[in-house]
Amino acid sequence: MTVAQRRTCSPTNGPLRSDTTLRMNIRPAVATCCLFGSIFACASSAQEMTSPSANLAVTPPMGWNSWNKFGCNVSEDMIKSMADAVVKSGMKDAGYEYVNIDDCWQVSRDASANIVPDPQRFPHGMKAVGDYIHSLGLKFGVYSDAGSKTCAGRPGGLGHEYQDAIQYAAWGVDYLKYDWCHTSTQDAKASYANIRAALDASGRPIVLSICEWGTAKPWVWGKEVGGNLWRTTGDITDRWGGKQKWPDGSCCSNGVLAILDEQVGLQSYAGPGHWNDPDMLEVGNGHMTTTENRSHFSLWALMAAPLIAGNDLRSMTPEIHDILTNKEVIAVDQDALGIQGHRVAKNGDLEVWSKQLQDGSRAVILLNRGSSEQQITSTWEQIGYPTHLTAGVRDLWAHKDLGKFTRKFSASVESHGVVMVTVKP
Ligand code: GLA
Repeated sequence: MTVAQRRTCSPTNGPLRSDTTLRMNIRPAVATCCLFGSIFACASSAQEMTSPSANLAVTPPMGWNSWNKFGCNVSEDMIKSMADAVVKSGMKDAGYEYVNIDDCWQVSRDASANIVPDPQRFPHGMKAVGDYIHSLGLKFGVYSDAGSKTCAGRPGGLGHEYQDAIQYAAWGVDYLKYDWCHTSTQDAKASYANIRAALDASGRPIVLSICEWGTAKPWVWGKEVGGNLWRTTGDITDRWGGKQKWPDGSCCSNGVLAILDEQVGLQSYAGPGHWNDPDMLEVGNGHMTTTENRSHFSLWALMAAPLIAGNDLRSMTPEIHDILTNKEVIAVDQDALGIQGHRVAKNGDLEVWSKQLQDGSRAVILLNRGSSEQQITSTWEQIGYPTHLTAGVRDLWAHKDLGKFTRKFSASVESHGVVMVTVKP
């Protein structure tokens, strides 16, 4: 059976089915449909039984993840206080929804091969953490790996996909980031199709974040296997500049600009329910200037990237808070049309990026990668408008209408900075 058939014929629709008996009762009907092979039978059945993951991530997921700031230093107390901070800081109001625990929450498997959370760091278990996150009106994410071990050497999901999916559903998990370490000769597409099928069989709608680093071009097959987002590159580091070798001489750690350049040409693969993921945000993690943090956030929003903050929300400065909660910039990321913006002009260090929005307007970024302030111009032609058009321009960081412009818009842009505007005819 192809992956597409498996998804069309996968069980469940409507209310959440955490009840195993119910799931087992549904399966024979689905199997009959698929075995029978009758087009009519399958088509009518597909209408009644769409996948539980059918309407997930219609706009790019927004939330927080532990890895970029805390690495393996995760605990129940820290995660709960971070969920509190999502609410208190106004990030929840700005659209941030998922609170995701990355690697290192798990330590072993028990005699029945159930995954075991670290009893010291999560003394009340994972369901208690999920319940707390849900009590705040937020959603709960965890991390595992398609291979035998996670990247930090904890037990992976290989061979336990269905067992783990049932466990995650019982804990109330809403989002699974699935990594690609220790996968040996596994086929990436088949591995991610398998975990999606397992998640769907649990009956709970769970966002699937494919973390395969772009090695097997997940943008080509990610949507087909039911991935809601897929990493397009290796890990981001808290640095503005491009690729750099690691201290041991191996290649490479990626700064914001290195990741940005790797997104060029991938825009056609993104859309509602399935997004390119240029990795989580480093905004507020200490090694970039306020200007660079603002540029990083603006560019990710223009690319309709998942906005997963990775800083300590309990102690962020007002500048970082204002970047992460800029609702005008977030609206560009979350625009319902779901088109990923792309680079439309490049002249050395000076670039223009543009994203078509649902109301026909464009979000435009003038980006200065150079070391001194520069004037940058975007022509209407570059952003797909007729030259004679007059359009209103609004600055999304100054929160100010700049007036009506014909043919082009120019602005002076500081080093490593952006000017981000909407252009509305
Ligand atoms: C990989 C992923 C990271 C993070 C770590 C955890 O490197 O790409 O985002 O999840 O593993 O070990």
